[in-house]
Amino acid sequence: MNHEILKTSEIRFLLGEQEVNIDFSVSNYKPTTTLLQYLRSLPDRKSVKEGCAEGDCGACTVVFAEIKGNALKYKAVNSCIVFLASVHGKQILTVEDLGKGKHLHPIQEAMVEEDAGQCGFCTPGFTMSIFGLYKNNNEPEKSDIETALSGNLCRCTGYRPILDAAERACIYKGMDKFTGKEHQIFQQLTEIKSNKEILFLKTEQNQYYLPFSLSDLLHLKKENPHALLAGGTSDIALRVTKKKENLPLIIDISQLDELKTISKNDNIMFFGAGCSLEDVRIACEKEFPSLFSILSVFGSLPVRNNATISGNIGSASPISDTLPVLMALDASLEIQNIHGKREQKIEDFIVGYRKTTLSSDEIITRIKIPFQDKNNILKSYKVSKRRDLDISTVNAGFMLNINNRGLVESIKLVYGGMAAFTKRATQTEKSLLNKEWCRENVENALKNIQNDFSPISDARAGAEARQLLAENLLLKFWNETRI
Ligand SMILES: Cc1cc2nc3c(=O)[nH]c(=O)nc-3n(C[C@H](O)[C@H](O)[C@H](O)COP(=O)(O)OP(=O)(O)OC[C@H]3O[C@@H](n4cnc5c(N)ncnc54)[C@H](O)[C@@H]3O)c2cc1C
Ligand code: FES
Ligand code: FES
Repeated sequence: MNHEILKTSEIRFLLGEQEVNIDFSVSNYKPTTTLLQYLRSLPDRKSVKEGCAEGDCGACTVVFAEIKGNALKYKAVNSCIVFLASVHGKQILTVEDLGKGKHLHPIQEAMVEEDAGQCGFCTPGFTMSIFGLYKNNNEPEKSDIETALSGNLCRCTGYRPILDAAERACIYKGMDKFTGKEHQIFQQLTEIKSNKEILFLKTEQNQYYLPFSLSDLLHLKKENPHALLAGGTSDIALRVTKKKENLPLIIDISQLDELKTISKNDNIMFFGAGCSLEDVRIACEKEFPSLFSILSVFGSLPVRNNATISGNIGSASPISDTLPVLMALDASLEIQNIHGKREQKIEDFIVGYRKTTLSSDEIITRIKIPFQDKNNILKSYKVSKRRDLDISTVNAGFMLNINNRGLVESIKLVYGGMAAFTKRATQTEKSLLNKEWCRENVENALKNIQNDFSPISDARAGAEARQLLAENLLLKFWNETRI
């Protein structure tokens, strides 16, 4: 693929109803300028605030409307951890689009009626999170409202009036001034997305590729082995916003619909690498409740709306929340390069601190989770200081199979936060095999956790506390599964 024949190109998106084209070769923006920085640079989008610049406060929340199948789908995202280049083909909505003067949107009316703001810094972000809920859930329950607001912090109002405002607003079954225009927006976005040529966004310091097909993606990765893959950018954007790094070469996989499919056969469920964590969460509720429950306490809804499953695996973080349960489920990866495919168990894929077996020309394309033997019991656990929007101190994914003689037939105890990477407690597992699943045997096995791990002390917890947490999680597991 010759770079010269790639059309150096611009991105196109809708800001409200206005089409915007940005040609990076002449604009002051970089492809890695965050959406928040871009919006703040405009004279008429100042509702969007910067609180933390790392996805933790929700002050920058905006809503994307994007094509999903045959419909327009709305999702709240943190604009501070989204690269501007990745908004190609989307509609971006901020509070300025909702209503003005006497023509307030029902959400804004409810916020006023319920006195749901004081200083107002957080209010646009809350309003947009509620808007995401309003357009997606016709009759939200309290728990849906709490989930929708899981990424927003307010330091002055208190949350009750805001929750009340959300409940009060969501009585119109998602109908509002946007409803009648959805067909037209759908057409406009379809037209923008109809061009499937690779977008090559070049500035003096950056080269950013947006391919639209797997074949183009694999060719690009072959030719640019050092390019950083971008999924939902919730990890890598922090390198720009917090570490002030320039990321010179990026291949963004977010435009590939091919990587966003979820399917199953009799034995396996397949998740495309580009599936958002929220899509995975919703799809796996019945089949893999242990994965569903860990995803329900993963970041916040706006983080899960954009972050991908392959990003969580590819980051190989020692406290990744999906890795322990995926390993306990015996999940594997489909990995591709231009020459073909290979498959590898996730357990063998992670080989060190943020290290995987991925070669420089390879890409994770699918995650495969086998349906479990009916005797397998799966559980996932996360210990963090807060339930929402917090990363794990220690997490775990456990699988237990007890045979008809009441003995442990097989067991997997996978821990995160206990070593440089997510790992099985193999000695502890061994000490439980073929034993009765009783408190005495489990308590005896606990001392092996010390042989399996030598955790570090850091800001989140001391080594001793981690050791104790790991032991207590196993006891909790026993308590929840005892016969
Ligand atoms: C506010 C906030 C809260 C968070 N909360 C949690 C949490 O509760 N639990 C948790 O585990 N993490 C959490 N994270 C970390 C992060 O959101 C997750 O790791 C997320 O899944 C990353 O996915 P992404 O698509 O955004 O990855 P990106 O940032 O796009 O990429 C991450 C890494 O994966 C690689 N990668 C992406 N796609 C592929 C692919 N197809 N093949 C190979 N490599 C690939 C990238 O090159 C990069 O190295 C949080 C982050 C933030 C900012
Ligand atoms: S500025 Fe805090 S979440 Fe974006
Ligand atoms: S009203 Fe002040 S931070 Fe929420």
